[in-house]
Amino acid sequence: MARIPLLMGNWKMYKTVAEARAFAEALGQQSAALGDDVEYAICGPFTTLHVLRVMLPTQVKLGAQNVHPEKEGAYTGEIAPGMLAEFGTKYVLAGHSERRMLFGESDQLVNQKVRAILEAGMTAVLCVGENSSQKQDGITKEVVTGQVRHGLEGLTAEQVAGVVIAYEPVWAIGSGKTATPDDAQYVAKEIRAIIAEKHGADTASQVRILYGGSVKPDNIASFVAEDDIDGALVGGASLDPTSFVAMAEAVRGVVR
Ligand code: 13P
Repeated sequence: MARIPLLMGNWKMYKTVAEARAFAEALGQQSAALGDDVEYAICGPFTTLHVLRVMLPTQVKLGAQNVHPEKEGAYTGEIAPGMLAEFGTKYVLAGHSERRMLFGESDQLVNQKVRAILEAGMTAVLCVGENSSQKQDGITKEVVTGQVRHGLEGLTAEQVAGVVIAYEPVWAIGSGKTATPDDAQYVAKEIRAIIAEKHGADTASQVRILYGGSVKPDNIASFVAEDDIDGALVGGASLDPTSFVAMAEAVRGVVR
């Protein structure tokens, strides 16, 4: 089964409602360029999700950047999976490196989030990646495959097949530095191999693997052209509608 490429924006803590509306309007005017051979999503701050849902072109799905694993409860400041699902959210990030590093999220918590996202009927985007000292120590493969194994623990093969994995080297995020397409492909292939080991080659072949870390319109095609890379998770370059469309066109150019 061919994997449909996925171009996903992660806005992090950027954009007010007014700014999100302006983005959606501008993207709407260029929606013909998006086509239907690629899937798109924007993971906006919670306060922007409503305007995005109403105003984004239909090809662009709604994503959230975080979620609490419990269904409900006395967790001041948190959002439950069912709340996001009810709202029409399709994708939810779990274990972004900023959450792991700045908010102390463990592999165990990330796994609880992944399961909760799936139970609520949404698609989990499990984010993994090594930091610069791990890269220097030559343990990228061990770190990343470990995060994948922990993140997917307790899932059925069927559930795993629907998960999206985003490989984002921590040192490449927001730095202007990227992995080489060769290195990103090597890690993506290892991710697929570890999934195949546990759940079989057929399941592994269905999982979409994205690259993230300083992806821009002029480098995205080189990643998506790799065999095991099925799209990108983009921070800074997803904030501007013209740049988003340019990346969409670049991905479509590879698909064709
Ligand atoms: P940048 O594209 O800004 O490097 O961010 C990557 C990222 O963290 C997306 O989740």
